[in-house]
Amino acid sequence: PLAPTPAHKFTFGLWTVGWQGRDPFGDATRPALDPVESVQRLAELGAYGVTFHDDDLIPFGASAAEREAAVKRFRAALDATGMRVPMATTNLFTHPVFKDGAFTANDRDVRRYALRKTIRNIDLAVELGAETYVAWGGREGAESGAAKDVRVALDRLKEAFDLLGEYVESQGYDLRFAIEPKPNEPRGDILLPTVGHALAFINELERPERVGVNPEVGHEQMAGLNFPHGIAQALWHGKLFHIDLNGQSGIKYDQDLRFGAGDLRQAFWLVDLLESAGYDGPRHFDFKPPRTEDFAGVWASAAGCMRNYLLLAERARAFRADPRVAQALAESRLPELAAPTAEDGLSGLLADPSAFEDFDVEAAARRGMAFEALDQLALEHLLGAA
Ligand code: GCO
Ligand code: MN
Ligand code: MN
Ligand code: MN
Repeated sequence: PLAPTPAHKFTFGLWTVGWQGRDPFGDATRPALDPVESVQRLAELGAYGVTFHDDDLIPFGASAAEREAAVKRFRAALDATGMRVPMATTNLFTHPVFKDGAFTANDRDVRRYALRKTIRNIDLAVELGAETYVAWGGREGAESGAAKDVRVALDRLKEAFDLLGEYVESQGYDLRFAIEPKPNEPRGDILLPTVGHALAFINELERPERVGVNPEVGHEQMAGLNFPHGIAQALWHGKLFHIDLNGQSGIKYDQDLRFGAGDLRQAFWLVDLLESAGYDGPRHFDFKPPRTEDFAGVWASAAGCMRNYLLLAERARAFRADPRVAQALAESRLPELAAPTAEDGLSGLLADPSAFEDFDVEAAARRGMAFEALDQLALEHLLGAA
């Protein structure tokens, strides 16, 4: 059960293992990686598929012939390995033209170009079998106050998603969008900074049913938020269309560590949730093998992502199957949370003296919740001590 297979639906962005290690202070530490080699290596490691930004596959500014050749080689590698492409996305952040954003750039010509660049890659994504199109607005934001009118920028962002939805529908594509929130980096402050902001925004769109979220572990944690709680709410809204798994240690720059590194306890609760909630989408890793690593380290890091997921799934299953846990859950009265508060309706509630007049507030306040014993059991399972 700890050997990854395609049935586990593990996927990797071409830009993850292909990251050359350029950061704001240092040059690349690794040479470029051929997407074909990434497909082959990841297939050997047991992955289900890969994902890509347009520019990961077809270098920015490539001629039509170069574009065709790159797609042909990539498709041949997919066919040879059986690897899938369940998701694709657009690079709307690297080229200097996007320095003030793409869909929300102040410059209208940049916004129109960003939409055309996205639509072009949507066609390719669908041709390659993608079902989800991710939109990460890394450059949609500002470093200063007056430079961006946020309400007007949100009008433009809505306009962009409405146009993209219209395009997809007009083509008859079976494609859904997933918005990826992030609080900051590379912009000082990014629009739609958290899962909650994105969920509220989606309700204002013309085709809200076509748009969900692609939350990334580290991005919510950069905002100090509880990632499993954000995922639980996204699931509750029926909006978890995709997920970016990685690791992050607290509120600091976007670390993009391999999955399992960083906050291990949140990783445990996340896997417990995904596995028990019936999420059946790809388990997509969006990480960056640290720039200290050579290619041996890159593949070790990728393998570690999958192994850590499977180890945590095994621990979570053992936790849920442990009779002591069932007992501790009952002592914590968790089953009671599933009972409606007023199955007798509002009139029943108002007519019930035990709900107020006869309710012993002090006695109820004295009840312990027994959560510490329950949490210790979880920790014992996580540590392999149970
Ligand atoms: C980040 C982001 C990006 C996006 C990816 C998709 O780490 O800030 O996760 O990696 O997910 O570029 O557009
Ligand atoms: Mn990230
Ligand atoms: Mn991501
Ligand atoms: Mn990333």
